[in-house]
Amino acid sequence: MSLPPGVPPSDWRGFGRGLPLPAWRFYAQVPSTQDIAQEWARRGASEGCLVYAEHQTQGRGRGGRRWITPPGQALAFSLIVRPLPQEAAYLSRLPGWAALGVARALEGFGLQPRIKWPNDILLGGRKVAGVLVESTWAEGPVPAFVVVGIGLNVYRGSVPPEPLAFPATCLEEHWQHPIPRPRLLARLWHELFRWRYRLAQPLLLQAWEERLAYRGHPVLVRYRGESIRAVLLGLTQEGFLRVRTSAGEERVFTTVEQLRPLVPPSSRAQRLVQGPAHEPPAS
Ligand code: BTN
Repeated sequence: MSLPPGVPPSDWRGFGRGLPLPAWRFYAQVPSTQDIAQEWARRGASEGCLVYAEHQTQGRGRGGRRWITPPGQALAFSLIVRPLPQEAAYLSRLPGWAALGVARALEGFGLQPRIKWPNDILLGGRKVAGVLVESTWAEGPVPAFVVVGIGLNVYRGSVPPEPLAFPATCLEEHWQHPIPRPRLLARLWHELFRWRYRLAQPLLLQAWEERLAYRGHPVLVRYRGESIRAVLLGLTQEGFLRVRTSAGEERVFTTVEQLRPLVPPSSRAQRLVQGPAHEPPAS
């Protein structure tokens, strides 16, 4: 899809200044920034190029879901990545790399995001951002290019009113200061590309694992229609999910249909007896 880019409004004009960003394109409205970035990459756009849209009408999410981006409420963008041949063994870490970059950028605002494996970013246990990694292969050991799409809910209008499979939140609910979105996007790009060439390094895996939601806690994994109770252990070298099932077996998942925290019924009952931890005991 070859749509001519728009002229950024005044608050976006300085975006990218001071960043080693090769090029970026601003759109007022597109069906999906993924399609625009893929077309641009096919025409030769280099690693790091960014496509940003104020309004996405047919945004794509993982697992064939839709990703709604109402005008001016969120950040919806796609990045072009051109993996190096020596990164062939580490491509499965790309989703974690992207989630880590987003998490690091939010940490820069004093927030404490967690990453729900593989790459949902949570604030206060609810999803604030999602990542979609789409690879295009030609010949060779690595894709010709990968388009990494990131959607971050900024203002309340970005959170869909209908109940979602997993609860959503937005940055505004956790950060009570004005949020200039161009500054936020610059921060995101900066963090993402600070970590980009560490894909093969143990440090990236460690940083991803340290931020993993529910680590050491009971979870419910849905896989091929089966519900598996387990404790989330962490990541494999590839960035796959490692759990210990309630039957005591260690299992690795390369993909899951659903991952949920599981509060064991006993601790729920105990909490009801004791009252919430933050309340003083009744006198
Ligand atoms: C998810 O399901 O969690 C991934 C959501 C990814 C949404 C982003 S918004 C920018 C880019 N363009 C799209 O169509 N999708 C991604």
